[in-house]
Amino acid sequence: MADKKYKIVEKPEVNRLTIWLIVVVFLCCNGVVLAEEAGSTSNQLSRVEREADKGHFACVDLEDDDIKSKKRTSVGPCIDFCWKIRKYWALLRKGDQCSCINKNDQYKEVDTSKCNKRCVAKNKWRQNCGGKNHFSKYSTGYVKEPDFDAFDKFQLKNLRQGCFKQKKALTGIELQTERLEQSMCIEFCLYKQFKYAIISNGDLCKCISNGNGYFAPTKAKCSVPCSGNKKFKCGGTGKTFHVYKTGYHSGAGEMEYDKRFEDLSWANSTKLGKTMMF
Ligand SMILES: *[C@@H]1O[C@H](CO)[C@@H](O)[C@H](O)[C@H]1NC(C)=O
Repeated sequence: MADKKYKIVEKPEVNRLTIWLIVVVFLCCNGVVLAEEAGSTSNQLSRVEREADKGHFACVDLEDDDIKSKKRTSVGPCIDFCWKIRKYWALLRKGDQCSCINKNDQYKEVDTSKCNKRCVAKNKWRQNCGGKNHFSKYSTGYVKEPDFDAFDKFQLKNLRQGCFKQKKALTGIELQTERLEQSMCIEFCLYKQFKYAIISNGDLCKCISNGNGYFAPTKAKCSVPCSGNKKFKCGGTGKTFHVYKTGYHSGAGEMEYDKRFEDLSWANSTKLGKTMMF
């Protein structure tokens, strides 16, 4: 009973202390936040200007600004989205409007201060998403990927062995890419002189020399869409693979140099969007 009383007396003390703490923290740090906010314009500009220097950013006035836009929350997601749909530039306006373009000749650069509208997304209060009448323009880092059309769909069907589950650890090489297509994987493995090309998770291509004993039949369906072309399937999840023969046989001789697989800058996004958080 005495304990309880003690606690009842103590409680308001603790609360008062907490309130004082909050007041002190508020007074001290609000000042800091406000100072940061005031200073942030210059911080932001310098960050933006650094990106502008690298050619990643400009504030632009589009002559034909009748471009369709989709609502995307902020800079990073807009850049990622535009890269995915194979566009060179991401444009942001009015705090949350994102558009993607390929032509670079339609706009005039203006002073970066014209792109001063805060992104609407709450957690991105430090980012600007264009201006009222001007666009923030970012390069997406998109590199046009080569064609992979050595095999048509009938040939692909003939090379396909089926959908299998991996039984044992495999050695070989791999190509993981956000642009994976079936033919690309087979061409890659053929170029690297492997007999089998196996595909999983929509974006993973592995090349192996020997398929015998490594795979077991599975009821699972290989139904993950290819990351590079959602119309087609690129294996199952985890260790469930589409298995293809590449048609390679020893004695095929030297392979001709294939630039498509030597310079893989087209294979992945540069994650530029992730670095644009400020
Ligand atoms: C693509 O990105 C994945 C995941 O980050 C990475 O594992 C892979 O090596 C990259 N592929 C290339 C060709 O750089």
